[in-house]
Amino acid sequence: MQIKLTTPLDMHLHLRDEDMLKIVAPLSAKSFSGAIIMPNLVPPVSTKDEVIAYRQRIIEAIGDNKIELYMTLFFKSTYTYEFLQSIKDEITAIKLYPAGITTNSEGGVSGFDIDELKETLNAMSKLNIPLCIHGETNGFVMDREAQFVPIYEKLALAFPDLKIIMEHITTKESVEALDKFDNLYATITIHHLLITLDDVAGGMLAPHLFCKPIAKRPEDRDALQKVALSAHPKVMFGSDSAPHPQDAKESSHCSAGVFTAPIALQLLARLFETNGSSFDNLQKFVSDNAKNIYGVNPKEQTITLSKTPFTVPQNYGKVVPMYAGETISWSLVD
Ligand code: DOR
Ligand code: ZN
Repeated sequence: MQIKLTTPLDMHLHLRDEDMLKIVAPLSAKSFSGAIIMPNLVPPVSTKDEVIAYRQRIIEAIGDNKIELYMTLFFKSTYTYEFLQSIKDEITAIKLYPAGITTNSEGGVSGFDIDELKETLNAMSKLNIPLCIHGETNGFVMDREAQFVPIYEKLALAFPDLKIIMEHITTKESVEALDKFDNLYATITIHHLLITLDDVAGGMLAPHLFCKPIAKRPEDRDALQKVALSAHPKVMFGSDSAPHPQDAKESSHCSAGVFTAPIALQLLARLFETNGSSFDNLQKFVSDNAKNIYGVNPKEQTITLSKTPFTVPQNYGKVVPMYAGETISWSLVD
């Protein structure tokens, strides 16, 4: 059996820089026709020159493979209307991190005081620049995302013309918030559709499945699967593929991030097939919904997947992918 996906998009991707960029960027370009590129480099991408230079480094790392690059800026509450207007054509969204919540987020936001954020968020609303948010508080790790939902709601109410993307949602509370506010949307990863905390820490510790937000309970995963498999129009695929070197993952201070870019489409095909959901819904989840939500129009490309076993490599250079060494039932056709 074969299926064809038109213009698959990864609406949340970490490509890093230098050696790591050269390893991972071509792998995303092999599967995806477009991707939203996260800005959490060191230092974070926060000026027009940095956006332009980073895009150029990605293009050089990819070589021949074509992928539409949707660049982002690291949110700062000091961005003015004039600055955002001058950079609008170079970016697709702005990514907001709570300060210190995850990898390279130290320069993020603390407190979520509307008065402090309003100049920048009003400017983004006027200029129609979507806001992507890593929605976690610094509370107890399993509760962080659910505790952030009132902040999403406060922002959605205060800035009704701002498109707010709840990134990599992992809880039923976030799924419920989607239908309460017209301007809330979400990305969902493949790993959060497949695993729960048991897979990370229920047996022997699985560092390659450790990420932020941490995978949650079976009922949370069920809620995510329900909206993804039915292609709810406000959700879209975003891998949050977040490579770290093997020694940083297999360490007493394991870095957060699951590297899924080279296996994401294969796993999505398997998930939709095994749950009896249509491949039309997969097409919506992995492309059409994102095009509608973001209003992007990437060049049309077709990617073919076949139901042929694929053994996931042990590593791609210095990075270990999710499910390394395991065989999955779907492959990419070159
Ligand atoms: O697990 C994660 N890794 N979550 C994030 O939000 C950031 C990412 C990274 O950049 O490593
Ligand atoms: Zn991320």
